[in-house]
Amino acid sequence: STEPRLIVVSNRLPLGDDPSGGLVVALEDALRSSGGVWVGFSGEVTDDPAPDLQDHPGAAFQRLSFDLTPQEHDEYYLGYSNSILWPLCHGRPNLMRIRPEYLDGYARVNQRIARMLLPVLRPDDRIWVQDYHLFPMAAELRALGVENPIGHFLHIPIPGPADCAALPNPAQLFDWLSHYDLLGFQAERDLGAFAESARQLADGDQVAPDRFRLSGRMVRTQVFPIGIDAAAFITEAADAPDSDRMRLLTGAKMMIGVDRLDYSKGIPQRFRAYQLLLEKIPDLHEKISFLQIAPPTRGEVEAYQDIREETEHLAGRINGQFATLNWTPIRFIHRPFPRPVLAGLYRQARIGLVTPLADGMNLVAKEYVAAQNPDDPGVLILSRFAGAAETMAEALIINPHDPHDLAVAMAQAMRMSQAERRDRHAALLKGVVDHDVAWWSRTYLEALTAR
Ligand code: G6P
Repeated sequence: STEPRLIVVSNRLPLGDDPSGGLVVALEDALRSSGGVWVGFSGEVTDDPAPDLQDHPGAAFQRLSFDLTPQEHDEYYLGYSNSILWPLCHGRPNLMRIRPEYLDGYARVNQRIARMLLPVLRPDDRIWVQDYHLFPMAAELRALGVENPIGHFLHIPIPGPADCAALPNPAQLFDWLSHYDLLGFQAERDLGAFAESARQLADGDQVAPDRFRLSGRMVRTQVFPIGIDAAAFITEAADAPDSDRMRLLTGAKMMIGVDRLDYSKGIPQRFRAYQLLLEKIPDLHEKISFLQIAPPTRGEVEAYQDIREETEHLAGRINGQFATLNWTPIRFIHRPFPRPVLAGLYRQARIGLVTPLADGMNLVAKEYVAAQNPDDPGVLILSRFAGAAETMAEALIINPHDPHDLAVAMAQAMRMSQAERRDRHAALLKGVVDHDVAWWSRTYLEALTAR
C-alpha cells in the first residue's frame, strides 16, 4: 500500500473477540488499509514481563502488547494515571493521591514502551498516541531519535490553570505535550482550558488560533469531537429482540443510565434527583422505572470503593422509601452488558440519562440517540459538563449539581409530546450520523499529515 502506516499506541489493546469498542471500529479501517499496528497493554500483570512487544494475530491489523509488573501497574496505571491525572482532569484534585513513586513509574513505563516500539518503526509511519496514560510518549520517542509525525488525542477533559496548578510539576505536563505535532481535544472548552493553562503555567505562547510555541517547539492544536459507529449501532438497536416485552413486564416507562462506576459520572446526583422527583410527583410512582447499569472499574483505588458504597446506599434508600409490592423504583446492576443488549435497552427507554459532573465526550449520549426508534423516540437528558453538550443542544441540557433542575427535566421528558420528541431526536441523530467515529479518525489523520 502507498498510504503511510498508522501506528496507534494506547493503554488498552483491543484483545479477545469482542469487536465492540468504538475506538477499535474507528481505527480498524485506517490500520487495515495502511498495514498498521496497534500497541497496548496485554492485561497481564507479571513479575516477568516479556522484554519486547508480543504479537497477537487474528485481527485485521497487527496487535503488539506489553506486560506490566505489579509495581508498574500500581504506579503507572492505578497511581499516576488513575489517582492523579484522572481526578485532576475531571475537576477533583481533592481526590488525587500524590506520591513521587507514581510519577517515576509512569515515566519509566512510557520510556520502556518507547524503547520496545523503536525497532517496529519505519521512517514514514504516522504515530497516534491515545489518552492520558501516555502523555510522555512523544518526548520519549524523540529522545530516541524518532522524527515521524506523532499526534496525541486526549479522550478526557484537560483542566484550566486553577486545577493544573495542583500537579506537583504542572510545567512538566506541557513539556511532554510540546513534543507532539498535533494535540487533539474533545471539545472547544478543552482547547480553551489548554490555552490558558499552557500560557499561565508553562510560558506557552499562542502564535495562531491553532498553534502554540511550548518549550521552544511548535505544536498544533485542534478540536475533534469523537463519535460512535452510528450505522452499526442503529442496525443493532433496530434488530434487538422484542422491545415491547420488557415494557409489558414492568408496566412502566423506563429511564436508563449506563456508566462505568466512576465518581465523574454524577450517579449519586442522578439518584438524588430521582428521589426528589418521586417525592414531588407521586403520580409517577409505578409509571417510571429507573435502570442504572454501572460496571465497577479500578476497584483497587479507594475513591472507586467510596463511590460504590455511596451509590449502593442511595439506591437502597430510594427503594426502601418508595418500592411497592409490584414496583422497584431503581434497579442498580454492577455488571457489564454486551453491546447488542444495551442497544435494545436504550431503544426501549423513554429517557436516556447522561449526567456526568465532568466528561471528555460521553458516547452513551450518542449511542442512546442512535438506538431510538425515529417514529417514537425517547428523550436524552444531558449534563452541560459532558463534551457532548457542545454538539447536542437538542437534548434536555441540565446542571447535574442541581437536583431540582434534573428532576424537572425527568418530569418534562415523561410528558413530552411525540412531535417534540421526534423533532429533537431527528436533529440529534443527524449530528451523530454525520460526525461518526470514521469521520473523527479521518479528520484527525488528515490534520496530522497536513503540516
Ligand atoms: C475512559 C478513558 C479510557 C479508558 C476507559 C476505561 O474512557 O478515556 O482511556 O480505557 O475510560 O477505563 P480503564 O481504566 O478500565 O481502561
